[in-house]
Amino acid sequence: MSAVKTILEKHPNAKRESLIPILQDIQESCGYLSREVINQVAEYIDLPAAKIYGVATFYNQFRFQPLGRYHVMICRGTACHVKGSKKALDMVVKALGIQPGQTSRDGLFSLGVVACMGACGLAPVVNINGEIHAKVTPKKLSGIIAEIRAKELSNAKK
Ligand code: FES
Repeated sequence: MSAVKTILEKHPNAKRESLIPILQDIQESCGYLSREVINQVAEYIDLPAAKIYGVATFYNQFRFQPLGRYHVMICRGTACHVKGSKKALDMVVKALGIQPGQTSRDGLFSLGVVACMGACGLAPVVNINGEIHAKVTPKKLSGIIAEIRAKELSNAKK
């Protein structure tokens, strides 16, 4: 039985109110919400798929593409905001050509934002594949991205 089917079966007689918990469970299990999954949920809850997209896109916790090999999570909590996380985010958006919730075409990077990583003393904080980068500046972040690209390029040549 597929993971999605198992999750749906945990929500018998699901209605619109169950949509967010269902989508959260699916994303946790599958990493993102594919078009097929949205259609499957639409059929199960008996809501048009467009409506489900409408609800899901309202909450920026949902992803519609698989994560990149490097998942860049930028903290946008208050402490990080005060210390300049917006500038870091703007730099990453420009450097990667993607918005939060998206994955670069080459599948190398995905970008996300989070409300607080619980490391406010290190603000602004960026998490890349579980590794915390403290007190980031756009310059520092740009260097980290360049390093990752160089590493991937040299790996690809091997
Ligand atoms: S606000 Fe960024 S770690 Fe708390």
